Amino acid sequence: MHILVTGGAGYIGSHTCIELLGRGHRVTVLDNLCNSSTVSLDRVQQICGQRPAFVEADLRDRPALESLFAEAAKTGGFDAVIHFAALKAVGESVAQPLRYYENNISGSICLFEVMEKHGCRRLIFSSSATVYGLPEKLPISESESIKPTNPYGHTKSMMEQVLLDTAAAHAWNVTLLRYFNPVGAHPSGLIGEDPEFPNNLMPFVAQVAAGRRPKVTIFGDDWPTPDGTGVRDYLHVCDLAAAHVDALEKAAPGAATAIYNVGTGTGYSVKQMIAAFESACGHPVPSVIGPRRDGDVPTVVAEASLIRQRLGWEAKLGLQEMVRDAWNWQRRNPMGFKGALLD
Ligand code: NAD
Ligand code: UFG
Repeated sequence: MHILVTGGAGYIGSHTCIELLGRGHRVTVLDNLCNSSTVSLDRVQQICGQRPAFVEADLRDRPALESLFAEAAKTGGFDAVIHFAALKAVGESVAQPLRYYENNISGSICLFEVMEKHGCRRLIFSSSATVYGLPEKLPISESESIKPTNPYGHTKSMMEQVLLDTAAAHAWNVTLLRYFNPVGAHPSGLIGEDPEFPNNLMPFVAQVAAGRRPKVTIFGDDWPTPDGTGVRDYLHVCDLAAAHVDALEKAAPGAATAIYNVGTGTGYSVKQMIAAFESACGHPVPSVIGPRRDGDVPTVVAEASLIRQRLGWEAKLGLQEMVRDAWNWQRRNPMGFKGALLD
């Protein structure tokens, strides 16, 4: 298949390119590089010997999308789109809601209109466990009510609705993947998560371990969890990448919609994650207990059986691989894609 990957230069997108190319698909990446660089695609080439075609464009640039789809049509068109491109920082979305709604919603709608015009009606969408807000029941199943608590989460739940309505009206085949907490990196250490300032636990821990930051602040140790720190369902980014390609290859043919949690079903606390990282890097990762972070919830763990039953997908990599690969990436790229690659 020829797959258009929006946001394919980013963290999850670049890992998914490797999985797609490895399974023999043709890949075109569209990215405006607002949170990534083409070095990730150079590294994809280094890993799998092929470079995805790359178009630097913004999702909201309709003429650019039109000409991309028209060009692809000359060789059979895109068979499907995997749509990663979005802004994703929760705190920033609270401070800049219009920017988030504009980018994530206007950009997506522009993409979907051009897809419909060109008869490309198959899409895998990056959704998030954040759509569940404060869950009523654990583990969280796909039938849990949708009630996001921040503008970023609203952009995800709104786009889910737009896609379900579009699928119903125009016979699209849509899979919504609600990711829990993707972490880790490709085992080569050539690509990984490269935030300027990390908002999430694992990249923060990795940067502290590499000496880029002095210490991790644990956001509260008085939560109703076994050790008092927040519990999340972390999954290896390579497993997540495989889930996209499974969804693409194993989805029911024709018009259909499917919604899947993508997680492991196992939760680890902040303290457990730091301890695991210390084992991987071989030295202590300094941390202090701080106040709770606004909007946090104590425990988020997926009921992950539906995707296993329907697509045969389940996580193959565990906590040890997650921290090993996160550390390998950070160790080899202490300054991310901007810095030198170490052996
Ligand atoms: P990322 O920032 O590394 O990748 C997103 C990519 O999209 C970037 O390369 C960015 O430059 C691009 N982009 C953003 N807006 C664009 C636009 N208007 N036009 C073109 N390109 C644009 O983020 P990621 O962690 O790889 O996340 C990928 C997707 O998964 C996002 O939709 C995110 O919301 C979702 N998600 C991520 C997580 C997570 O923890 N990383 C969890 C749940 C869901
Ligand atoms: N945490 C710390 N210190 C930090 C960062 C995080 O103690 O410096 C704690 C948090 O309080 C939480 C846990 O580590 O208990 C995980 O926090 P993350 O920010 O890594 O992840 P979240 O689960 O809060 O949110 C992330 C993304 C969301 C996404 C969600 C999916 O930020 O966009 O995962 O479940 F929706």
